[in-house]
Amino acid sequence: MTIIAPSLLAADFMNLGEEIKRLEKAHDIWLHLDIMDGHYVPNLTFGAPVLKEISQYTSHKLDAHFMVTNPEDYLDDFAKLNIHNFTFHWEAVTHQDSFIQKAKKVFPSVGISLNPATPIEVIPEYILEKIDLILIMTVNPGFGGQSFIEGCKNKIDKLAQLRSKHSYSFQIQVDGGIKDSNASELIKLGADNLVAGSYIFGSKEKKYVEQIESLRN
Ligand code: DX5
Ligand code: ZN
Repeated sequence: MTIIAPSLLAADFMNLGEEIKRLEKAHDIWLHLDIMDGHYVPNLTFGAPVLKEISQYTSHKLDAHFMVTNPEDYLDDFAKLNIHNFTFHWEAVTHQDSFIQKAKKVFPSVGISLNPATPIEVIPEYILEKIDLILIMTVNPGFGGQSFIEGCKNKIDKLAQLRSKHSYSFQIQVDGGIKDSNASELIKLGADNLVAGSYIFGSKEKKYVEQIESLRN
Protein backbone atom coordinates (compact mmCIF):
# COMPACT_ATOMS: atom_id res chain seq x y z
CA MET A 1 0.00 0.00 0.00
CA THR A 2 1.47 3.35 -1.02
CA ILE A 3 1.76 5.71 1.90
CA ILE A 4 0.40 9.18 1.23
CA ALA A 5 1.88 12.00 3.30
CA PRO A 6 -0.36 15.11 3.27
CA SER A 7 1.88 18.15 3.76
CA LEU A 8 0.33 20.46 6.33
CA LEU A 9 2.17 23.38 4.75
CA ALA A 10 -0.82 23.72 2.41
CA ALA A 11 -3.46 23.41 5.13
CA ASP A 12 -5.50 26.30 6.49
CA PHE A 13 -3.32 27.38 9.43
CA MET A 14 -6.16 29.35 11.01
CA ASN A 15 -8.10 26.10 11.34
CA LEU A 16 -5.32 23.57 11.70
CA GLY A 17 -7.17 21.40 14.21
CA GLU A 18 -10.16 20.98 11.88
CA GLU A 19 -7.86 20.34 8.94
CA ILE A 20 -6.11 17.53 10.81
CA LYS A 21 -9.44 16.04 11.92
CA ARG A 22 -10.50 15.86 8.26
CA LEU A 23 -7.63 13.41 7.74
CA GLU A 24 -8.48 11.20 10.69
CA LYS A 25 -10.45 8.60 8.68
CA ALA A 26 -7.74 8.20 6.04
CA HIS A 27 -5.63 5.04 6.19
CA ASP A 28 -1.92 4.51 5.56
CA ILE A 29 -1.06 8.18 5.74
CA TRP A 30 1.73 10.07 7.46
CA LEU A 31 1.32 13.72 8.42
CA HIS A 32 4.15 15.49 6.62
CA LEU A 33 5.53 18.46 8.56
CA ASP A 34 7.85 20.83 6.71
CA ILE A 35 10.19 22.48 9.18
CA MET A 36 12.00 25.43 7.58
CA ASP A 37 14.44 27.78 9.28
CA GLY A 38 14.53 30.74 6.88
CA HIS A 39 18.21 29.99 6.32
CA TYR A 40 18.60 26.65 4.56
CA VAL A 41 15.50 27.58 2.57
CA PRO A 42 14.06 31.08 2.10
CA ASN A 43 10.94 30.40 4.15
CA LEU A 44 9.93 29.90 7.79
CA THR A 45 7.26 27.53 9.01
CA PHE A 46 6.76 25.99 12.44
CA GLY A 47 8.77 24.23 15.10
CA ALA A 48 8.53 22.10 18.23
CA PRO A 49 5.65 23.90 20.03
CA VAL A 50 3.32 23.50 17.04
CA LEU A 51 4.39 19.89 16.49
CA LYS A 52 3.69 19.14 20.13
CA GLU A 53 0.08 20.28 19.71
CA ILE A 54 -0.30 18.38 16.43
CA SER A 55 1.04 15.15 17.93
CA GLN A 56 -1.69 15.26 20.58
CA TYR A 57 -4.36 15.83 17.95
CA THR A 58 -3.88 12.90 15.58
CA SER A 59 -3.45 9.15 15.55
CA HIS A 60 -1.43 9.23 12.29
CA LYS A 61 2.33 8.93 12.16
CA LEU A 62 4.28 12.20 12.09
CA ASP A 63 6.79 12.67 9.29
CA ALA A 64 9.13 15.59 9.99
CA HIS A 65 11.00 16.99 6.97
CA PHE A 66 13.76 19.28 8.21
CA MET A 67 14.82 21.94 5.74
CA VAL A 68 17.28 23.53 8.16
CA THR A 69 20.97 24.31 8.21
CA ASN A 70 21.78 22.49 11.45
CA PRO A 71 19.42 19.55 11.99
CA GLU A 72 21.67 18.41 14.89
CA ASP A 73 20.39 21.35 16.92
CA TYR A 74 16.84 20.04 16.77
CA LEU A 75 17.32 16.44 17.91
CA ASP A 76 16.76 16.94 21.64
CA ASP A 77 13.64 19.09 21.36
CA PHE A 78 12.01 16.93 18.75
CA ALA A 79 12.90 13.65 20.45
CA LYS A 80 10.04 14.22 22.90
CA LEU A 81 7.37 14.71 20.27
CA ASN A 82 6.44 11.23 19.13
CA ILE A 83 7.80 11.73 15.62
CA HIS A 84 7.87 8.57 13.54
CA ASN A 85 10.16 9.65 10.73
CA PHE A 86 12.88 12.31 10.85
CA THR A 87 14.23 13.38 7.45
CA PHE A 88 17.21 15.72 7.04
CA HIS A 89 18.82 17.18 3.95
CA TRP A 90 22.02 15.39 2.98
CA GLU A 91 23.39 18.70 1.66
CA ALA A 92 22.92 20.43 5.05
CA VAL A 93 25.02 18.02 7.11
CA THR A 94 28.81 17.57 6.99
CA HIS A 95 29.17 14.30 8.92
CA GLN A 96 26.12 12.45 7.69
CA ASP A 97 26.96 9.02 9.07
CA SER A 98 27.52 10.14 12.64
CA PHE A 99 24.38 12.26 12.45
CA ILE A 100 22.35 9.26 11.27
CA GLN A 101 23.68 7.21 14.20
CA LYS A 102 22.53 9.89 16.65
CA ALA A 103 19.13 10.31 15.01
CA LYS A 104 18.54 6.54 14.90
CA LYS A 105 18.77 6.40 18.68
CA VAL A 106 15.86 8.80 18.91
CA PHE A 107 13.46 8.14 16.02
CA PRO A 108 11.96 4.86 14.70
CA SER A 109 12.72 5.95 11.14
CA VAL A 110 15.40 8.26 9.74
CA GLY A 111 15.39 9.61 6.20
CA ILE A 112 17.76 11.42 3.86
CA SER A 113 16.41 14.08 1.52
CA LEU A 114 18.11 14.92 -1.77
CA ASN A 115 17.52 18.23 -3.55
CA PRO A 116 16.66 18.06 -7.26
CA ALA A 117 20.25 18.86 -8.26
CA THR A 118 21.86 16.27 -5.94
CA PRO A 119 22.52 12.89 -7.58
CA ILE A 120 21.63 9.69 -5.69
CA GLU A 121 25.27 8.57 -6.05
CA VAL A 122 26.28 10.88 -3.17
CA ILE A 123 24.92 8.29 -0.71
CA PRO A 124 27.43 5.46 -0.17
CA GLU A 125 26.41 1.82 0.00
CA TYR A 126 27.03 1.45 3.72
CA ILE A 127 24.46 4.16 4.36
CA LEU A 128 21.96 2.82 1.81
CA GLU A 129 22.09 -0.44 3.78
CA LYS A 130 20.92 1.13 7.00
CA ILE A 131 18.81 4.17 6.14
CA ASP A 132 15.02 3.87 6.48
CA LEU A 133 13.87 6.32 3.84
CA ILE A 134 15.19 8.38 0.95
CA LEU A 135 13.23 11.46 -0.04
CA ILE A 136 13.62 12.56 -3.64
CA MET A 137 12.68 16.23 -3.88
CA THR A 138 10.88 16.97 -7.13
CA VAL A 139 10.74 20.74 -6.49
CA ASN A 140 13.35 23.04 -5.00
CA PRO A 141 12.61 22.99 -1.27
CA GLY A 142 11.00 25.93 0.48
CA PHE A 143 7.49 26.36 -0.88
CA GLY A 144 4.34 24.43 -1.66
CA GLY A 145 2.45 24.68 -4.91
CA GLN A 146 5.44 24.50 -7.29
CA SER A 147 5.59 22.51 -10.53
CA PHE A 148 7.02 19.01 -10.56
CA ILE A 149 10.54 18.86 -12.07
CA GLU A 150 10.32 16.10 -14.70
CA GLY A 151 14.09 15.66 -14.74
CA CYS A 152 13.99 14.11 -11.25
CA LYS A 153 12.06 11.02 -12.35
CA ASN A 154 15.15 9.13 -13.46
CA LYS A 155 16.52 9.38 -9.91
CA ILE A 156 13.47 7.49 -8.59
CA ASP A 157 13.93 4.84 -11.25
CA LYS A 158 17.67 4.44 -10.56
CA LEU A 159 17.15 4.31 -6.81
CA ALA A 160 14.41 1.68 -7.11
CA GLN A 161 16.66 -0.46 -9.32
CA LEU A 162 19.52 -0.15 -6.86
CA ARG A 163 17.21 -1.11 -4.02
CA SER A 164 15.98 -4.25 -5.71
CA LYS A 165 19.48 -5.25 -6.88
CA HIS A 166 20.90 -5.08 -3.34
CA SER A 167 17.69 -5.88 -1.40
CA TYR A 168 17.89 -2.61 0.50
CA SER A 169 14.89 -1.89 2.68
CA PHE A 170 14.54 1.91 2.53
CA GLN A 171 11.30 3.51 1.45
CA ILE A 172 11.38 5.87 -1.52
CA GLN A 173 9.45 9.04 -0.75
CA VAL A 174 8.80 11.74 -3.36
CA ASP A 175 7.92 15.33 -2.47
CA GLY A 176 6.87 18.28 -4.60
CA GLY A 177 4.27 18.92 -7.29
CA ILE A 178 2.50 15.58 -6.85
CA LYS A 179 -1.09 15.25 -8.08
CA ASP A 180 -3.38 12.60 -9.53
CA SER A 181 -1.93 13.04 -13.03
CA ASN A 182 1.63 12.04 -12.05
CA ALA A 183 1.18 9.85 -8.94
CA SER A 184 0.63 6.53 -10.72
CA GLU A 185 3.76 6.98 -12.83
CA LEU A 186 5.81 7.67 -9.69
CA ILE A 187 4.41 4.57 -8.00
CA LYS A 188 5.30 2.51 -11.10
CA LEU A 189 8.83 3.87 -11.01
CA GLY A 190 9.21 2.61 -7.43
CA ALA A 191 7.97 5.33 -5.08
CA ASP A 192 6.19 3.97 -2.04
CA ASN A 193 5.51 7.17 -0.18
CA LEU A 194 4.10 10.30 -1.83
CA VAL A 195 3.99 13.73 -0.18
CA ALA A 196 1.24 16.04 -1.42
CA GLY A 197 0.29 19.45 -0.09
CA SER A 198 -1.61 21.68 -2.46
CA TYR A 199 -3.25 18.75 -4.31
CA ILE A 200 -4.87 17.52 -1.08
CA PHE A 201 -5.56 20.72 0.86
CA GLY A 202 -6.37 22.75 -2.25
CA SER A 203 -9.47 20.70 -2.95
CA LYS A 204 -12.43 23.09 -2.73
CA GLU A 205 -14.84 20.60 -1.18
CA LYS A 206 -12.29 19.62 1.47
CA LYS A 207 -12.85 15.90 0.77
CA TYR A 208 -9.30 15.09 1.74
CA VAL A 209 -9.78 11.35 2.13
CA GLU A 210 -11.02 11.16 -1.48
CA GLN A 211 -8.09 13.26 -2.69
CA ILE A 212 -5.71 10.90 -0.90
CA GLU A 213 -7.34 7.84 -2.48
CA SER A 214 -7.17 9.42 -5.93
CA LEU A 215 -3.37 9.50 -5.61
CA ARG A 216 -3.30 5.75 -5.04
CA ASN A 217 -5.53 4.86 -8.00
C1 DX5 B 1 8.50 21.88 -0.19
C2 DX5 B 1 7.97 20.89 0.82
C3 DX5 B 1 6.81 20.10 0.38
C4 DX5 B 1 5.58 20.91 0.00
C5 DX5 B 1 4.89 20.14 -1.08
O1 DX5 B 1 9.71 22.35 0.21
O2 DX5 B 1 8.99 19.98 1.20
O3 DX5 B 1 6.47 19.10 1.34
O4 DX5 B 1 4.70 21.15 1.05
O5 DX5 B 1 3.87 20.90 -1.57
P1 DX5 B 1 3.13 20.59 -2.95
O6 DX5 B 1 2.54 19.22 -2.85
O7 DX5 B 1 2.10 21.68 -3.02
O8 DX5 B 1 4.18 20.69 -4.02
ZN1 ZN C 1 8.35 18.28 2.50
